[in-house]
Amino acid sequence: MSYTKEICKAKLEVHGKTYELPVYEGTEGEQAIDIRNLRAQTGLITYDPGFANTGSCISNITFIDGEKGILRHRGYDIVDLAENCTFLDVSYLLVHGFLPNRDERANFSELMNQHSMLHEDMRRFYNLFPDHAHPMAMLSAMVVSLSTFYPELETNPNEAIDITVTRLLSKLRTIAAFTYKKMRGEPIVYPRPDFSYCENFLNMMFQTPVNKYVPDPVITRALNQLLVLHADHEQNCSSAVVKSVGSSEANLYASISAGVSALWGARHGGANQQVIEMLEMIHNEGKHDIQAVIERAKDKNDSFRLMGFGHRVYKTYDPRARVAKEICRQVLDHLGKKDELLGIAQELEEAALADPYFQQRNLYPNVDFYTGLTYRAIGIPTNMFTVMFAIGRLPGWIAQWLEMRSGSEYKIYRPRQIYNGPTQRDVISNWDRS
Ligand code: CMC
Repeated sequence: MSYTKEICKAKLEVHGKTYELPVYEGTEGEQAIDIRNLRAQTGLITYDPGFANTGSCISNITFIDGEKGILRHRGYDIVDLAENCTFLDVSYLLVHGFLPNRDERANFSELMNQHSMLHEDMRRFYNLFPDHAHPMAMLSAMVVSLSTFYPELETNPNEAIDITVTRLLSKLRTIAAFTYKKMRGEPIVYPRPDFSYCENFLNMMFQTPVNKYVPDPVITRALNQLLVLHADHEQNCSSAVVKSVGSSEANLYASISAGVSALWGARHGGANQQVIEMLEMIHNEGKHDIQAVIERAKDKNDSFRLMGFGHRVYKTYDPRARVAKEICRQVLDHLGKKDELLGIAQELEEAALADPYFQQRNLYPNVDFYTGLTYRAIGIPTNMFTVMFAIGRLPGWIAQWLEMRSGSEYKIYRPRQIYNGPTQRDVISNWDRS
């Protein structure tokens, strides 16, 4: 990529020899040592479990400064985007690199409408899942099934980016709402051309034959904002998975389906469900013992962690958490609801931030800490929270996938390892093994 420049050489001395490795700098001053020729030159590889220090690509999409708590997409601050743009605007921005003008926006919305339905045969799939199926499992399965109905995307998705993007964005929302209806045992509700993206989702979720859903602008805006907050987060676990699968030339649907599975885990998107379950546990125990929960989170003999706290990149307050907290307040105010879980969350936050364990490790609330409270207020059930995250993260996955597949440095993801198993030995034949 043209912006990244070589600023100096790093010297590596090993086995009595000195090697020079280029050091690059990105547009925001981040620097990295280029080790692409390391093994060829030295016979060595790097060791970096969890890739915490590994730059897997050069990207133009999202910038994060984890020390300062900055998140920008294509140069725009996340707070600015959440305040002033719809989720569709931000989706367009991530994929195309610029915010849509009026015509582009209208065209994108119309495509969203055209591609919002699911093939009728896909409806039957829902009947085959058991009643207790987790919605993330259904989501992942339904997304990969899309490739059987729309196989033409396997050839060249770049030829029709808008169709590719809108088809997935629009259908994922429909799949998610149908999943909810399946869990409720209610008849599905089809998308409507006169509703916006978020209105449509809420209508498909909450309209029933006996209850008309009337869009509420405050709730629609809150949902838009929450989806914007999740839209991309550079090389996070699920995006890395989407790219890893895509790097083998698997199609976009297969790659996104794998991303949904990666997101499901409790240390990633699954944390938003776990946060509410943790708050409910504290509430239901009746003792309201915040300090006991903090002590459990600190106990190295207990696998329990304070969910919605900590982040691989942010070593300060996650900027998305701040906005999410405000959205939660606004929605509860608007609905005239009081949620005791919000009070518990605030107490937990205060106690953790005052505790040396959390201070020394720079553990702050992340995006998942407050989002579930808003979803709950809107009426979205806890096991759908990570599905909401997936809808929000989809444009980021697509943008990252497209950037990788169209880039000149596109290579199959294939890390190396340090082997630590037995050295060569001979097989003892079956007869001689006791
Ligand atoms: N509660 C208690 N201790 C924690 C927590 C937590 N939530 N998070 C990290 N730590 C401790 C951890 O035990 C370790 O301590 P020590 O140095 O004594 O061994 C230290 O902090 C560093 O943690 P780590 O696991 O090495 O850090 P990481 O960068 O590999 O993991 C994380 C980041 C997000 C997986 C982790 O902070 C965590 O498990 N948080 C809870 C789950 C969560 O909220 N996930 C959502 C992440 S944000 C949205 C998303 O990406 O999906």
